[in-house]
Parts: sequence; structure tokens; C-alpha cells
Amino acid sequence: MNARSELLSALACADEKYISAATLAEKLGISSEAVSEAVKALEAEGFSINSETSKGYKLSKENNKLSADIILSHLTSKELGRNIKILDTLDSTNNEIKKFEIENAPHGTTVIADRQTAGRGRIGRSFVSPSGSGLYMSVLVRLKLDIRFAPMITSAAACAAAEAVEELCESKVMIKWVNDLYMNGKKICGILTEASLKPEMRKLDSAIIGIGINVRCIGDSFDNELKKIATSIEDETGLKLDRNTLCAKVLDRLDTYLCKISDRSFLEAYRSRELLTGNMITATAGSEKLMGEAIGIDDNANLIIKLQNGEIRHLGSGEASLCRLVK
Ligand code: BTN
Repeated sequence: MNARSELLSALACADEKYISAATLAEKLGISSEAVSEAVKALEAEGFSINSETSKGYKLSKENNKLSADIILSHLTSKELGRNIKILDTLDSTNNEIKKFEIENAPHGTTVIADRQTAGRGRIGRSFVSPSGSGLYMSVLVRLKLDIRFAPMITSAAACAAAEAVEELCESKVMIKWVNDLYMNGKKICGILTEASLKPEMRKLDSAIIGIGINVRCIGDSFDNELKKIATSIEDETGLKLDRNTLCAKVLDRLDTYLCKISDRSFLEAYRSRELLTGNMITATAGSEKLMGEAIGIDDNANLIIKLQNGEIRHLGSGEASLCRLVK
């Protein structure tokens, strides 16, 4: 580890408490003057650090600069996020991580961007990804899962992301089938999973889990139409979450939830957060438009709908929304 990484880790591990220049100097094996220079260099890079002559230094609560060192300091998972790459701008983190997949990067490799110029959503949609406001991350997973479990990776990832956000901001997070996270009735997160299957082996080869969370205020980056349906954690709670802490929490929870796919135990958490269940909904399955009551999530994470003619349908993919009351 170089002095820069050691300094960032020490500040992150201090959990928003001040560490004196002397303690840092001893830890890093450099002089207090060199610590002061290193802090200045980090500030020039964009890190927010509070300095007080009598107390020392601490990472500001409002720090919004992404850093692999900070993420690694908070991470407890064994493999997820251990090989991590952060870039300022990418077209899409899912596109970038595909290159790592081809190069045989290990399970858990993670790519994060501060900004995406062509963030991708489900069904060919785009995902607006402005600089400094969201957590845009893709995780490469290599799981020996039977292919019938592949569609459930997204649902398990939704549980992980929901739990991570909820733990950090103490506001209820719901999952709207299939994979959107909602806070106060608006979307704060979308997930795009792209799996490589080996049909002849009936096993999953690898999958890329792309998670986009709107963390800081969206300001003018969303147009008025998008603002009606999407929001950010800060817009809803007033909290300026550190994207590094959030990223580590998502990776930790993902580590746990990926192990709960093959025995389907993640479903309990999924069902308890699912937003559509118990409501009248409209849904699209292929070219078909359906209307009925969402009555639950089955053991394959499909949405169960009771149509108006009493017929029961299990939807494996598609799009569903709450019915709006027409006055
Ligand atoms: C959706 O809402 O339909 C899914 C959105 C998924 C967005 C994330 S951001 C990180 C990763 N990279 C992408 O291009 N997409 C996913």
C-alpha cells in the first residue's frame, strides 16, 4: 500500500472521528508535515477532509469522491469487491466489466463509474447517470448455479440493495417487481443483470449485475417526466450518503443474498418488500397487456396475477405498474 492509500484507509476506518497528525504520521511512517502535504493532495483530487489544528483530520461526512481504498476499508465480504476498479466516466459499467469477464477476471470483480454517458436500463431503456450523484456499479459473479436460478439473481440483488440503502438511511425501501427499488412511491434504483449461460451444461457461467442507485440530489439532471417517477435518496431523506460506504454495504449484502438463491431463502425478504402485491396492476408480458390483482410472488420470483376473469398468471418477465385511479 502506498502512503495515499494508507491515509485514505486510516481516515475511512476512523469512522468520521478525528485522527491526530501525529497518529497518522506514525501509522504511515512519515512526518507530520508529509501527512499535511498528503491531505492537501487528496483535497486537490476532490476528497472532502476536515482539518482542525487541535484534533487532526477526518473524512468529511459529505465526502462525495469515490475511492477503492475507502470502499475496501468498509468491506467485509470475502470476494465481492476485492478486485475493484473506479473510473470517472464510462459509457456503461456493464459494458466495461464485460471486458474483464472475457479476460477471466475473478468472481466479485467490481467496476464503478462516477458518471455514465450511456447507462443502460432494462428493455433497451437508458439510465440517466450524471456525475457525483449516483452509485453506478457492476459486479461480475461466477456462480455454479443451475440455469433455472439465473433469473433470480436480479431479485436477490434487489433484496441486497434494498437492505443496504435501508440500513444507511433508515427509510423504508420497497421492491417493485422485477427489480426496481422505491422510496416514498418513486424509483431510486434499477438493476440490470446480464447472464452468460452454457446451455449444454445447464449451469450458469457468469453474470454481470449492474446496479444504479440515485444517491445525491438529482437537481436538473432528470427531465420533468423522469422526475415524476424517479427520485434520489437525498431528495427523499435529506441525507448525503457517502457512495463508498453505500457501495461496500451493497457488496456485503450481495455476498449474503447470492448464497440464498439456490435454496430460495432470499424470497422471504423479497416478498416482504414487494410493492405491487395486494394491488390492482397493469402488466405487459411480450405484446400482451394484462390487468388484474397482484397476489404474490411465486417460488421462482415470478409475479402472480389474478386477472379480472379469475385466471391466474405467473409472469417471469415484463413490466408491471400500479393502476392509477381515474376520478
Ligand atoms: C433499469 O432501471 O431498468 C435498470 C437500470 C440499471 C442501471 C445500472 S447503472 C450500473 C449498470 N450499468 C449500466 O449501464 N446499467 C446498470
